[in-house]
Amino acid sequence: MCGIVGYIGKEEAAPILLDGLSKLEYRGYDSAGMAVLNDDEIFMTKSKGKLEVLNQLTHGGETLKGHLGIGHTRWATHGEPSDLNSHPHLNANGTIAVVHNGIIENYAKLKEKLIKKGYEFKSETDTEVIAQMLDYYYNGDPLCTIATVMQRIEGSYALGVIFKDTPDVLYAVRKDSPLIVGHTDGGSIIASDVPAVLKYTRDVIFIENEEIVTLKDNEIKIFNIDREELDKPVKHIDWDADAAEKGGYEFFMLKEINEQPKAIKDTFSPRIKDGKIVIEELLMSEEEIRNIKRICFVACGSAYHTAVTSKYIFEGLARIPVDVEVASEFRYRDPIIEENTLVIVVSQSGETADTLAALRLSKEKGAKTLGIVNVVGSSIAREADMVMYTWAGPEISVATTKAYSAQLIAEYLLAMHFANVKGNLSDECLEEMIEDLKALPEQVELLVNNRKRVQRFANRYLAAKDVFFIGRNVDYAISMEGSLKLKEISYIHSEAYAAGELKHGTISLIEEGTLVVAVATQEEVYGKTKSNIVEVKTRGAVVMSVAVEGNSDIEDVSDYVIYIPETNKYFMNSLAVIPLQLFGYYISLGKGYDVDKPRNLAKSVTVE
Ligand code: M6R
Repeated sequence: MCGIVGYIGKEEAAPILLDGLSKLEYRGYDSAGMAVLNDDEIFMTKSKGKLEVLNQLTHGGETLKGHLGIGHTRWATHGEPSDLNSHPHLNANGTIAVVHNGIIENYAKLKEKLIKKGYEFKSETDTEVIAQMLDYYYNGDPLCTIATVMQRIEGSYALGVIFKDTPDVLYAVRKDSPLIVGHTDGGSIIASDVPAVLKYTRDVIFIENEEIVTLKDNEIKIFNIDREELDKPVKHIDWDADAAEKGGYEFFMLKEINEQPKAIKDTFSPRIKDGKIVIEELLMSEEEIRNIKRICFVACGSAYHTAVTSKYIFEGLARIPVDVEVASEFRYRDPIIEENTLVIVVSQSGETADTLAALRLSKEKGAKTLGIVNVVGSSIAREADMVMYTWAGPEISVATTKAYSAQLIAEYLLAMHFANVKGNLSDECLEEMIEDLKALPEQVELLVNNRKRVQRFANRYLAAKDVFFIGRNVDYAISMEGSLKLKEISYIHSEAYAAGELKHGTISLIEEGTLVVAVATQEEVYGKTKSNIVEVKTRGAVVMSVAVEGNSDIEDVSDYVIYIPETNKYFMNSLAVIPLQLFGYYISLGKGYDVDKPRNLAKSVTVE
């Protein structure tokens, strides 16, 4: 998704903007641009392509002199990626410049009105409408003008705005798209996300919906839409700056795969005390837990896959009925939320537009809501009734790995805790499970260290056209994740199937040489999955299996086997996911793709 950065202060703005934008590259983008105010004039450079193009065009920011500037990485929504559609956008006489993250839903109507009033548009974007609206309503008071325009635009937006008339003020606004602000040494900065500002400040303010910010080099003021000044808390970010850098790895994805033992440990350690699970963030009494009638998990992408795994675990262990739904579907039907339903939304970024909307809808319908979120202070974290953080640290690669693993852990903890409170899991069994949980970081590390074996197999299949992932029970859930990991970064078509479902249609696609990845970690259905492997092998498939150490008979029906260590059956996904992540990674690497920034994708999907 688009990223914005803005700066005002004693330093040259452009190099800071370029640096900040480089930290937002992970969000995904197709063009970049900057506007800087100098000598009473707004100068702008923007271009389709990578940030490096902008870097070269401006000689590392040298050609754009000035101490007030805004920068943008664009992920195209309205209008193709092009120089013209790139941000910033200006009003006709170049006195107002705007960068925007989000979507203006009523832009077509507004544009039509403005055209009737004689305005001309250069781009196909929704954002240019904002620049022209600011021009149309401008009354000499930028704050008042911004508030007026906010009342007329619908949709989501984080904006950075420069007015030529106020060369000592940077303006910023937020509604449903993330925005943070902070003081630097001798200036003030705005950005879409924390990594962009870490080099300059660790104390930030999270801007809320419909708040307007005015920034000067030594002063930040925040107003509501009625222009009443607000007092907002400053949040200290104690992320390790290195954590947001590559640290010697070729790609963030491999670095983050390697960080999984730590992410897992950091997520469970603070919540295990004296052989018990203590989730302080869970503001629910034991009675309230016992009264839960239904859990409804809502999420997108990989976060949704963790929830599919959790359905098996919560139902199996805690005997609580669980629904799992993708947020984009949930939000546009009229879901039935009965009394004593707990809605759990899962999100790495905490900003995914559909998940956030699903959360809001659930609250409106009276559900108690719990967010499982990685980014501290994000919208979902702030708006959910309760928030349980996954302590994975900043995740940069578009393909999630360590946040996914940390989400699984948070969900295991909840399921175990609920089962124990409900009396379905004895203290003894709970302790055994906790021991298995504690062994996971080391087991994951072992699998990561064994990566060359996965790489060897992956290198043989760089030319694969279709790959099928199959499994039963939680192995089906992990198949979904394995399939997504592969397709999103290697651009190979792949699908996940419940292994028993193959013969209801999909098996007709299997032919000589089709690659099938079979996950067979679940003892109860191991024989059944093996039979499904035989079915595809008979039809010519090449099979890579993921199985538990000791089940070496799987080699009789597979072409290649990756073994994972023994653990509790409910925790198998935490181990099985490692070879699947590595498989996607090495295929993408072998094909020479930009693993961290796959085409058309964004890290944080803050628009619908
Ligand atoms: O930030 P979120 O966890 O809400 O993001 C949800 C999905 O967009 C995300 O998991 C996506 O599917 C990843 N690219 C998968 O690797």
